[in-house]
Amino acid sequence: MFRPRPIVSWEELLQTERKRRREKCVAEDKINTLQFALNQRAKAPLAQLPTPLHRLENFGRALNLPELWIKRDDLTGLEGGGNKTRKLEFLVGDAIESGCDMLATAGAIQSNHTRQTAAAAAKCNLKCALLHFSWTRDAGPLYRQSGNILLSSLMGAELYLDETERPIEDQSPLLGFVEDLRRSGHKPYLIPAGASEHRYGSFGYMACAAELILQSREKGIQFDYIVHCTGSSSTQAGLVAGFAFMGENIKVIGVADDDETDIKRARVLELANNALAELEASVRVSPTDVEIVSADQSPYGKAEPETLDAIRLLARSEGLVADPVYEGKALRGLQMLAGDGRFESASRVLLMHLGGTPAVHAYANQFGEPGFSDLSDSR
Ligand SMILES: Cc1ncc(COP(=O)(O)O)c(C=O)c1O
Repeated sequence: MFRPRPIVSWEELLQTERKRRREKCVAEDKINTLQFALNQRAKAPLAQLPTPLHRLENFGRALNLPELWIKRDDLTGLEGGGNKTRKLEFLVGDAIESGCDMLATAGAIQSNHTRQTAAAAAKCNLKCALLHFSWTRDAGPLYRQSGNILLSSLMGAELYLDETERPIEDQSPLLGFVEDLRRSGHKPYLIPAGASEHRYGSFGYMACAAELILQSREKGIQFDYIVHCTGSSSTQAGLVAGFAFMGENIKVIGVADDDETDIKRARVLELANNALAELEASVRVSPTDVEIVSADQSPYGKAEPETLDAIRLLARSEGLVADPVYEGKALRGLQMLAGDGRFESASRVLLMHLGGTPAVHAYANQFGEPGFSDLSDSR
């Protein structure tokens, strides 16, 4: 009688299953260890988490990326949302624990970071002083009245302006600014621009890395690539450090908000390894783990017409808006990477939306006048 011989013995099957379960336990153990280590730190509960994770079918089809997803960190809560809210949970927690009564930070006039700091201060009953630098020229007549600056003012922050033109990397007057606040009797907590170059600056996105692994498991998807905009660099540093901590193999590609790819590459590496050292982790990140590309290389705060087209494409295909300073440049980067064949076919790619929508209003004139159709045309 013919008896089909099993290709794999029961013993082998059992061993494979035991190995799979062991690996799953080790992976879960690493997620728990990371979350436990981060939860030992003082934290202000500011963000609404987890942020949604969903597919971008229409935009993905336009870019020939059938498995394109988006993580909605534009919906972290507080007014306007964005990536700073996750970072600020740790910094504001530390500020409160240190007995400070004021948050002090800096950014461009249309900084999403200063606006989220104003929101965090309001929620935590702290005062807030914001120093705005002239890192970029005003984008138009609404630049000093609408968008982020309007929201910061509504949320009660003291607004200061330094009109000296300076490169984006220069935030030197911030220390003197904080010293003046101290002399005036405040107890300010200094948050660097972008909340990155701070010993806890990368923790928010290390926590996000753990959230993402749990959330993607729940949805039965394993991402091969993450693409997002990189500026002050602790978003990318936190993700890269978090995945290294958990032994997860996901390639993170940062799209620069200007052409300073070398500065950002070095900074992401340094911040990621500082964060791992701060948590006394045994792993470290190497230069090959840090990839930064630049698609729209115009200076900070400026965008090419193709970037505005990418913003329109996302808006019209998905009903989601990106700003021209950060997220529009991430879209250009994603388009460039897809067009260059950087992803293998069937790659699962995650775009992180890191916020910035309020700035669109301040840049309104760059998109042209919204035109009205003649009413008689509709009849
Ligand atoms: C909307 C938006 N996207 C991306 C970034 C870049 O993030 P990071 O500064 O952590 O590199 C920022 C920073 O200000 C931002 O506001």
